[in-house]
Amino acid sequence: MADNIGNKAAHDYHLDVPAAQEGFYVKGAAHCDWGMKSRLARMFHPQSGNTVMLAFDHGYIMGPTAGLERIDLVIPPLIPYVDVLMGTRGIFRSCISPAARVGRCLRVTYDSTVLYDDMSNGGGFASDMENALGMGADCVAVQTFIGAAGESRSLELLCRTADAGARYGMPTLGVVAVGKEMERTEKFFLLATRVLAENGANIVKSYYCEGFERVAAACPVPIVIAGGKKLPELEALEMAYKAIQEGARGVDMGRNIFQSDSPAGMAQAIGKVVHEGYTPKQAYEVYEAVKNG
Ligand code: 5RP
Repeated sequence: MADNIGNKAAHDYHLDVPAAQEGFYVKGAAHCDWGMKSRLARMFHPQSGNTVMLAFDHGYIMGPTAGLERIDLVIPPLIPYVDVLMGTRGIFRSCISPAARVGRCLRVTYDSTVLYDDMSNGGGFASDMENALGMGADCVAVQTFIGAAGESRSLELLCRTADAGARYGMPTLGVVAVGKEMERTEKFFLLATRVLAENGANIVKSYYCEGFERVAAACPVPIVIAGGKKLPELEALEMAYKAIQEGARGVDMGRNIFQSDSPAGMAQAIGKVVHEGYTPKQAYEVYEAVKNG
């Protein structure tokens, strides 16, 4: 073979330098495989270790939601300010550019719509793992109903997803639902977040509550908090700030961003809280500056 003639011989083995033993910064993932870590690293920023996820999957049970009537107009301009988009496959395909440089969290379970009294009473897979891989997902999300009618079924979906995720290096985000009947106490969130992590979730989405620092400490994987119903901007920033200071590794926020009078301002302000430790007051100034800019 011509290439063999005159080829430089390998010689620089750096025998005095130990092999690189890089740790891994995402909570609970140190023993995961390379592919799983690589996807987690597309979600959690390597510098802060935290993430800003933008949730716009509300239509999967609610139909058109205020602020999300035209997802194709509302969400793409926010992409530069967030780390991850969270949505359904129908919306990713129709409204989000496949070229967008952002993490993708795909919701892979469906539930009863708001037309039923109890959204936890049914549910199943909305997408299998092959579809998620085909769509280039970095994470798959499973809704769970701890303490409600759909508890057992939703935990089964979580476990099956975590099995497939372990095979393909796909992180599973377990979502703690808070329906009408479910408590929003420290006791409930301690139990629900821990149950999801123990059953295979690599990330847990939950809610901020009194005693959150104990909830975060007892959960062996990162918790990201949902925003819930729209709050005044300063209050939403205060909630995000307290959550991060008390151990959350990010937010997975929807209405408090896209229902704001300045979604771009709120997305940037939340990013400052999550990645740079801005106080609510400092972050509010960012929101105001973008809004008035
Ligand atoms: C519901 C979800 C939604 O994505 C999430 O609640 C939306 O975020 P927000 O509450 O901030 O509007 O996972 O379980």
